[in-house]
Amino acid sequence: MTETLRPFQPADLGPLHALVARTIETSYAGVYGRLAIDHFHGHHSAEQIRKDAADGFTLVAEHAGLLVGTGTVAGEHIGRMYVAPEHQGRGLGRRILDALEQRARDDGRESVYLGASIPARTFYERLGYGLVREDAHEFADGGRLVWFRMVKRL
Ligand SMILES: CC(C)(COP(=O)(O)OP(=O)(O)OC[C@H]1O[C@@H](n2cnc3c(N)ncnc32)[C@H](O)[C@@H]1OP(=O)(O)O)[C@@H](O)C(=O)NCCC(=O)NCCS
Repeated sequence: MTETLRPFQPADLGPLHALVARTIETSYAGVYGRLAIDHFHGHHSAEQIRKDAADGFTLVAEHAGLLVGTGTVAGEHIGRMYVAPEHQGRGLGRRILDALEQRARDDGRESVYLGASIPARTFYERLGYGLVREDAHEFADGGRLVWFRMVKRL
């Protein structure tokens, strides 16, 4: 599969929100509890995606006319890295992250940081990110939202 990377455009908002929501439901099932997953949905609302694209630089990956991946960089912060479940594990996440890091370098940044989900931690470690600390939030249903603050020198 050859996916094309390009900058986010306003018309991408609906499809991009749908992609992120679907990936959260699929990739976080069995990893996070229901309340934690709902928290992710709130954090990645359409309004938040629109705002982050306006404040930073959002990339989308397209395949056969469909959006299948995304990532955003704003200053030194990288966020909202999502690859459609059926496209994961084929190097697309690496391509998106490389492009965001290059953008940060071009902006004069010397490092980038992010909050990694449990399933994504190894992905970031493979790509040169180091663990700064582990954070966790406890939910009323007994679930825990665990994430990892990670950093990479560019
Ligand atoms: C995390 C994510 C963005 C990675 O994208 P991807 O396209 O699947 O990753 P790639 O195929 O580019 O993988 C790059 C490297 O990381 C490794 N990797 C990717 N996901 C991994 C995982 N879950 N566990 C272990 N290694 C992983 C790959 O094996 C590859 O290593 P290699 O080149 O040495 O073989 C994607 O899997 C995803 O969207 N996951 C669910 C949502 C999520 O957690 N997003 C991150 C929010 S912080």
